[in-house]
Amino acid sequence: MRVVVFGAGAIGSLFGASLAHGGHEVLLIGRPDHVAAVRAHGLRITGSLVDTVELPAATTVPADFAPDAVLLTSKTFDLAAAASLLAIEVPKPVPTLLPQNGLGVEDEVATALAAGGWTHTERWIVRAVNSVPATLLGPGEVRAAGTGELLLGRPASPNAVATRTLARLLRGREFKLRYVDDLPREIWRKAILNAAINPVTALHGVVNGRLREEPYHTESLALLQEAVTVARAEGVKFRDKEIRADLERVLTATAENRSSMLQDLDRGRRTEVQAISGEVLRRGLAHDLDLPATRRAVEAVRSFSGRPAASRGQSS
Ligand code: PAF
Repeated sequence: MRVVVFGAGAIGSLFGASLAHGGHEVLLIGRPDHVAAVRAHGLRITGSLVDTVELPAATTVPADFAPDAVLLTSKTFDLAAAASLLAIEVPKPVPTLLPQNGLGVEDEVATALAAGGWTHTERWIVRAVNSVPATLLGPGEVRAAGTGELLLGRPASPNAVATRTLARLLRGREFKLRYVDDLPREIWRKAILNAAINPVTALHGVVNGRLREEPYHTESLALLQEAVTVARAEGVKFRDKEIRADLERVLTATAENRSSMLQDLDRGRRTEVQAISGEVLRRGLAHDLDLPATRRAVEAVRSFSGRPAASRGQSS
């Protein structure tokens, strides 16, 4: 198949490399420095997956590259703009994977694609929950930090055909692909865990595993509890025991990881706090819920964006 990875950062590049290894024709669309490095030296993958992969990279989709599928892997704060651009550059709709963290991602993309001219966007968009870890070490270089899985909703109308197409493409790679019956619940589960982990790691400059220790553990549990309350208000129920066990499991499995939000702050980049904790807060307000820990976390992460790592204190 011909695949465009649109917004190829860490995870998009890793998926692209894996697909190219599997014999697919893959085009990476990304930031100019990343694209230039991939063109010059190939894409270097270190860690548990593959090696150096030769594959074409560009900043726009050439007119003659008509893809069969798109992996739209931009960060959430770039997503609406990326989807608008995608609709211009790939005018014929194709199955499009959205593996981002956060809540409300698919609505934002559907709106942008429809405004750009795609029709029946609900048939083409396939939301996924991703736990395959990847870090962009620098232009042209990605670290695969272990194994993980990609969850897709079990194929059903309206996007059953697109889901099957993407599942065929992505199955049998170095990561696991799994269908789930209740994808919205899995999206919430991931958002709750991200809301509990990412701001605490980012604000204190610590790896995920440190959140098993105090005072980080208490901070993280307060965020977890508030996010669970909002999910419940939206009709998505998690038992305290279940979600706390999920938190412990992820903290242990990713103990050495620097969370994506910590990596973003380290690089002086924007973070995905709005799509994660900001969206929890927005939805909580709509249900008249008071979320002091989440509010403080959103404000603090925003205030640290673009400031040097040292100003956050401890780092490990
Ligand atoms: O955003 C991240 O970094 C990851 O989703 C997670 C699960 C927190 C692991 O680092």
